Amino acid sequence: ELQGHVSVILLGATGDLAKKYLWQGLFQLFLDEAGKGHSFSFHGAALTAPKQGQELMAKALESLSCPRDMAPSRCAELQAQFLRLSRYRQLKTAEDYQALGRDIEAQVQQEGLREAGRMFYFSVPPFAYADIARNINSSCRPGPGAWLRVVLEKPFGHDHLSAQQLATELGSFFQEEEMYRVDHYLGKQAVAQILPFRDQNRRALDSLWNRHHVERVEIIMKETVDAEGRTSFYEEYGVIRDTLQNHLTEILTLVAMELPANVSCSEAVLRHKLQAFRALRRLQRGSAVVGQYQTYSEQVRRELRKPAGSPSLTPTFAGVLVHVDNLRWEGVPFILMSGKALDERVGYVRVLFKNQAFCAQSEKHWAPAQSRCLPRQIIFYIGHGELGHPAVLVSRNLFRPFLPAQSWREVEDRPGLQLFGRPLSDFYAFSPVKERDAYSILLSHIFHARKESFVPTEHLLASWVFWTPLLESLAREVPRLYPGGADSGRLLDFEFSGSHLSFSLGQPEQLVPGPGS
Ligand code: BG6
Repeated sequence: ELQGHVSVILLGATGDLAKKYLWQGLFQLFLDEAGKGHSFSFHGAALTAPKQGQELMAKALESLSCPRDMAPSRCAELQAQFLRLSRYRQLKTAEDYQALGRDIEAQVQQEGLREAGRMFYFSVPPFAYADIARNINSSCRPGPGAWLRVVLEKPFGHDHLSAQQLATELGSFFQEEEMYRVDHYLGKQAVAQILPFRDQNRRALDSLWNRHHVERVEIIMKETVDAEGRTSFYEEYGVIRDTLQNHLTEILTLVAMELPANVSCSEAVLRHKLQAFRALRRLQRGSAVVGQYQTYSEQVRRELRKPAGSPSLTPTFAGVLVHVDNLRWEGVPFILMSGKALDERVGYVRVLFKNQAFCAQSEKHWAPAQSRCLPRQIIFYIGHGELGHPAVLVSRNLFRPFLPAQSWREVEDRPGLQLFGRPLSDFYAFSPVKERDAYSILLSHIFHARKESFVPTEHLLASWVFWTPLLESLAREVPRLYPGGADSGRLLDFEFSGSHLSFSLGQPEQLVPGPGS
């Protein structure tokens, strides 16, 4: 990779995402790369006028943190350096973009730098995309030899048609290789570990990772927060568009795809992943169970000033049964589930293996403690929940996994802690040596052009092709209500037998079964 000067332009520099994650991620990028011969300038941009924008940006930059092992004096020095490299600018009109293009060129020339590239991060609502894209394309492209990378945030459309329109529009300004569509779940450490884990444990997994041995796969994202304060967004999207179409489907394809010979080859990974998207069996209405927490409609009425008596039809919970139509996965249920206002915040992928034939018959008679019939499972634990941090867990009766010691270490046992019905000591358990936030991982991947961590247009459209018919068939349906709120939105259980999936949400006395799908 050629070293040189990199300009990062953060559009929406004073917004929530920027404040919460992006500035910190850019600071981390600076810490990781500035010492390696790259130089940087950071342009925070928004529509706000310069003086006020400057103040808002200064607030967003107040709480940059350094790695725990860094001396405070060094940290302060680096923070000050980063602040000197960061400027606010108002980007509103075509002239503003022209001035930005000129300023970058002038800086590179005056300082005698070689320009490596320009990264534009769109942390703005999608309706603003087209104008910004047009302006960047006409006024801010770097000269030959330097790269342009534009980073886009979801939502990427509302259904297949709108996603296609947006993609076509962006495609008229940018090449596919210039676009980095973020799905921040791909930056979560446990998710980013799925392919490396499958690769590094090929020998053990080779015979296991298929329909003969996998009983089912669960991909779960439970949240305790509800949609309060965000109902105008949520009303338009709902849980399937918000988390299943993107986060959970991306994860599913990482589990289901064929492993390429070389998992560090972006192109091969993306090609195989696309095949997995295309192998998803068309969903039926009966493949999904949808629910809505009880106070949601009331929140919508309040926040959107809607008249009483018009309940919202937007689902805030969905459980969906997915099949992957290929030889490897024939008949294996993939259960996707996500919801708001549930009993706990936790995310994980759980691959549950079948017990050996003799186990199934003798299970009842054997004392479980000494039984060889204990559940055999691999879990990519995304975070939160009982464990409280990301982890990879493999049942001890399965195999001893390999994880690279420089980035994953064994988790110490915590007696009394039960995960998936088993004590932690039942698993080989590994957690990241350094916990890193998804956005800082993804910013580093953008910088290194690791395209396998992003969503190409073809993948995006394949995912919408898969979800759109279900969304259409749910559009006029009234979701089942479940009790939401701090302590009542408990997901008590879900049952799965053959092709039937049902969920029970609420307190035991208020079981709300799914619509029997
Ligand atoms: C976002 C969704 O993509 O992911 C939110 O729009 C959701 O509704 C969020 O709360 C969850 O992300 P995380 O990183 O907090 O698990």
